[in-house]
Amino acid sequence: MEKKFDRYMVTAALIYANGPVHIGHLAGAYIPADIYVRYLRSQEKEVVFVSGTDEHGVPITIKARNENKTPQEVVDIYYEMIKKSFYEFGISFDIYARTSNPIHHRISEDFFMNLYKKDAFEEKVTEQYYDTVAKQFLADRYIVGTCPHCKNENAYGDQCEKCGSTLSPSDLLNPRSTLSGEKPILQKTKNWYLPLEKYQKSIEAYLESHKEWKINVFGQCKSWLTQGLQSRSMTRDLEWGVKVPLPDAEGKVLYVWFDAPIGYISATKELIPNDWEKYWKDTKTKLVHFIGKDNIVFHTIIFPAMLMEHGQYILPDNVPANEFMNLEGQKISTSRNWAVWLHEYLIDFKGKEDVLRYMLTANAPETKDSDFSWKDFQTKNNSELVGIFGNFVNRTLVLVHKYFEGVVPHTEKLQEKDTEVLLSLQKLISQIEESIENFKFRDALSFFMDIARLGNKYLAETEPWKLINTDEERVKTVLHVAVQITAVLQITSEPFIPKASFRISEMLAISPKKWIHLKNIPDLIKAGHIINPSSILFEKIEDETIEKQLQKLELSKKNNIYPTQNTFVTPIKPSIKYEEFEKMDIRIATVLECEKVPKSEKLLRFLLDTGLDKRTVVSGIAAYYNPSELIGKQVILLANLSPRKIMGIESRGMILSAEDQNKILTLIQPKIETTAGATIG
Ligand code: 2FM
Ligand code: ZN
Repeated sequence: MEKKFDRYMVTAALIYANGPVHIGHLAGAYIPADIYVRYLRSQEKEVVFVSGTDEHGVPITIKARNENKTPQEVVDIYYEMIKKSFYEFGISFDIYARTSNPIHHRISEDFFMNLYKKDAFEEKVTEQYYDTVAKQFLADRYIVGTCPHCKNENAYGDQCEKCGSTLSPSDLLNPRSTLSGEKPILQKTKNWYLPLEKYQKSIEAYLESHKEWKINVFGQCKSWLTQGLQSRSMTRDLEWGVKVPLPDAEGKVLYVWFDAPIGYISATKELIPNDWEKYWKDTKTKLVHFIGKDNIVFHTIIFPAMLMEHGQYILPDNVPANEFMNLEGQKISTSRNWAVWLHEYLIDFKGKEDVLRYMLTANAPETKDSDFSWKDFQTKNNSELVGIFGNFVNRTLVLVHKYFEGVVPHTEKLQEKDTEVLLSLQKLISQIEESIENFKFRDALSFFMDIARLGNKYLAETEPWKLINTDEERVKTVLHVAVQITAVLQITSEPFIPKASFRISEMLAISPKKWIHLKNIPDLIKAGHIINPSSILFEKIEDETIEKQLQKLELSKKNNIYPTQNTFVTPIKPSIKYEEFEKMDIRIATVLECEKVPKSEKLLRFLLDTGLDKRTVVSGIAAYYNPSELIGKQVILLANLSPRKIMGIESRGMILSAEDQNKILTLIQPKIETTAGATIG
């Protein structure tokens, strides 16, 4: 028998605050969570919806180093940016919190201490790489070395980006620290581990009691259990994070996946300091976590194990995780800028937030990875939102104005067709309810659109525009029913496309109605009520608009020119002696001539005055500079590089330029003009 709950505690993943958000995030967790919560609120259920940013973890410290900022500065920027994007898409959190808040630190420390006092942790001493120059332990991403599989010299401690192998730092040949370039040493360190194997049986029983979970979630969880749970460290040797609240834990913080889910609790406590406990401790509360598939194990195994050990908390009742959304057939990649960024969409498609919400729900990766294509986006807008939904609402309201001056007409005797329509309406509403309650938002959306289809069919079959000359009474009934369908659409559209729903209520001149009002369908809007004139709900999206977006994507394919969230600066090279550096002759040279090398897109041929001679040098920066603008400028030349033939031209030396993470080249030039031949060192 299905369990009855008194209230709902709904969470959406706390996203890392180290980059902007894209459509994959929205489709994966935030839109489904928002639909669910809006539906529950419309049903007048007691519900709290929390989310926020996850502001700890190694990627944030790396981003900060790359950008010469502190981790706090990085998360401050992205917290605001992410929050704004979600807010503009109408994601209706009750609170958008952050894990760098002191309240979160306090609650996480308390949670850790609660487990510590119960002897839940195992203290383990292991050997970890330590940088003796930077004087810190190195997270996997801070170590580079030679990949044992493909011999790539710049493989990271957790992965080789060249051959894709997953690595651990001890696999690397010639490991070196990205902080100092030095070879790290292995040093002993103590950390606190949660022996997950101890919870194997309880987690198995917990999973077995949730056979209703989505198959992708259940399956992933099951496969972890089959492999056998293993002890996992809940602390890290790192400066950035929640400090381990123990005397002998200097320089250690809580594992980011230990404190992040506690963020849901601290957000609730921040929101309702006096009332939060019933949402987390009363078994009459249904706790639901909306996440993407990469977060499943943390929400179905590790966090529940933490909650079980603590003992006072309820466990997640459902974790309706989604799979991933691809873009134009390819995996979304933040580092390759293969993404539709929300902050950019909000500029390019101002006022069309509902269109994206609709599209992402219709294509939600609920059971398997799905695909977003701009053509499909256009079709969904033009054929469904404009052609079916907007069309029905508009026709109904226009007809009421045309024939009855905006006054909702009386119902005369209902005919069979009318009662049939009302019955179908009831059925569709129940189907939406059932789908949302079972986290099948795609189906729910499609039943919702069927209501608009039903309305269009009703108008097409009853043809009030023809009847008006012969049977005005019948037209009154038809339009009365059509207005009721419009009101049903206002209510049922709200979870999916809230802005459109609000505009319908404005056109109907009513305060927005809720799901609970659906009991009175034949009489949702009373006869005699005066409605406002209709205005267009959705506009057609033209081919050019779509072409522009496709071109934008093409550009990122070619140039990869976006500041991204997961790029890493090239690791520092092994150290050299001063004598080795001294061998290089680096000097200022003045550009006398500069032109493109025929038949090459990349190369420029320079004639340089080095102070000693005039010589030809070829450089691969044609994509970034106009040759004529460089004549007369000064550049920096590695003058004693042995001559090389490039495209048949002998190049004597190398012009120095900087290459950023996105492979963009910038010439290095003296800020103030100096003498050609001036040496650098
Ligand atoms: O994958 C992520 O972006 C994680 N920061 C999600 C954390 S969800 C929760 F546990 F807070
Ligand atoms: Zn490799």
